[in-house]
Amino acid sequence: MNSHDITYETGNGKTQVPAAHTVDLATCKKCHLCAEICPAGIIDVDDEARFLDDRIPLCIRCGQCMAACPTKSIFIEGLSYEKDFFELPQREKSWQKAFYGLIGSRRSIRKFQDRPVPRELLEKIVQAVTFAPPGFTPLTVELTVVNDRELIRRAVPLMAEMYNMLLKMQANPESRAILEKMVGKDTYQVLSDHVLPLMRVRMPALLAGAEDTIARGAPCMILFHAPVHNEDMFIALAYALLAAHSLGLGACAIGLIPPTINRNPELKKMFKIPESNQVSASMVLGYPRYKYSRGIRRRPASLTWIE
Ligand SMILES: Cc1cc2nc3c(=O)[nH]c(=O)nc-3n(C[C@H](O)[C@H](O)[C@H](O)COP(=O)(O)O)c2cc1C
Repeated sequence: MNSHDITYETGNGKTQVPAAHTVDLATCKKCHLCAEICPAGIIDVDDEARFLDDRIPLCIRCGQCMAACPTKSIFIEGLSYEKDFFELPQREKSWQKAFYGLIGSRRSIRKFQDRPVPRELLEKIVQAVTFAPPGFTPLTVELTVVNDRELIRRAVPLMAEMYNMLLKMQANPESRAILEKMVGKDTYQVLSDHVLPLMRVRMPALLAGAEDTIARGAPCMILFHAPVHNEDMFIALAYALLAAHSLGLGACAIGLIPPTINRNPELKKMFKIPESNQVSASMVLGYPRYKYSRGIRRRPASLTWIE
């Protein structure tokens, strides 16, 4: 550690956080792993590891150099070994079997037991999201975990209102043309082929709060939001869906929910979504009511090998 270091409280005691990119040459073993791994090529590979001053602005703070260094000798400004890293378990042969067993047995769950989800399981799902690869750090995904069945139940008729408005627009040729222009041809196709026919049948019961084909009567919901939508949101969602399944919970991505929250300030307020944020993805979850006897085999729309 050098004189640039700053110290701050983490809650578990004091942690050293370097205020600049540095290498502790007293402990560096000159293995050059940091330089090999750095995606931005900002570490010199000659003899001692050394940050190239003019390239430091290219650092994306992915932390890979610190994750790889066997002697904890490399420091990225603002990252601390104590706070931002953890020791990895030994790689085990059983991981492959467990992983394929896990992803092959996951299903989108839409029927739930009347049983609350313990907070510690939801915290584990949040942790899984933090393991997802971000385009850039720090993470842009903001999470809202709603562990309140009653609040979700009250929100569903408000969510349905947006689809009721779309049904009305679709019924009139003039407003249908406006709708098509507004959402684009492809989204309109999905709306008119899949979403609106389902909504048409269910609408009276949805508006009355008598049934829930949107949030599926789930006890919990997780919303993925950010000031600007980006691809990280769906990777985060995928990690959360798999994490829920690994924990014995059932979950389902719900594309119907985000646009309803984004267009309704009341829903944004109910779910404490900052006004300036857009909800990109949502999932509902709880204990699954039913068990499946088999997995489902699907094939990619096309598969090309080039070798
Ligand atoms: C981005 C996305 C949005 C989805 N939106 C909904 C939805 O609004 N309502 C719903 O019931 N299922 C929704 N699903 C779940 C799919 O319908 C589901 O993945 C599909 O039925 C296949 O089932 P499986 O996950 O069990 O393989 C969504 C899935 C994804 C990936």
